[in-house]
Amino acid sequence: VNRAAWRGRRVLVTAGPTREPLDPVRYLSNASSGKTGYAVAEAARRLGARVTLVSGPTALKAPAGVRLVPVMTAREMLAACLKTLPSTDLVIGAAAVADWRPATLSRTKMKKGRGAPVIKLVPNPDVLKALAARRRKGKPVTAGFALETSSLLANARRKMREKGLDLIVANGPEALNGDRTRAVLLTRDGRSHPYAGPKAGLAAKILSTAEAFL
Ligand code: CTP
Repeated sequence: VNRAAWRGRRVLVTAGPTREPLDPVRYLSNASSGKTGYAVAEAARRLGARVTLVSGPTALKAPAGVRLVPVMTAREMLAACLKTLPSTDLVIGAAAVADWRPATLSRTKMKKGRGAPVIKLVPNPDVLKALAARRRKGKPVTAGFALETSSLLANARRKMREKGLDLIVANGPEALNGDRTRAVLLTRDGRSHPYAGPKAGLAAKILSTAEAFL
């Protein structure tokens, strides 16, 4: 990496799951520890970037020197990201955003006794796609992840195109939780870079790959 390219750059990272409430005690969510997103935020900070980390609920501590914006739902995540977007140079979407939310939120706890409820879901915004759609002259540089259980590279390439990203990190469900991961980084110029190792190393690899587009 070229450290000079990073000093003072503004980096926005989304991380963790979102939590979509059903009633005051129940929610719909995704399996996500937040480790990858926090590792990316920390690595960018270490390179001298000014980092905003918009994070759903995780058990992790914000890395030192990173501005943490805690959120719960996908809609809160999008709103928080839109606030910092105008001054952002690089967006990295590492959050496991819930694609759907319950159509209605019960103000009181849903009670048993009247049979199992049927829960209607409605689509959530695609946070990263919405951010990418607001780009002007290719800025900010935008990167995301593709979690796939089949046709990893083909699905990831399609996601990169459909969401309008510069870079996508393709990985399988084995990337969830653990501290190590395997991934392939695909860039909009058609290149691919494989990675296997600790999540902190993947974070560095994502940043060094994104640097070419800054
Ligand atoms: N993403 C997002 N908002 C969503 C869904 C996904 O910002 N509502 C972002 C994620 O942070 C990730 C990328 O989009 O960087 C891809 O997420 P993934 O779950 O792999 O894909 P989906 O778009 O949800 O597609 P599908 O579930 O059909 O595979």
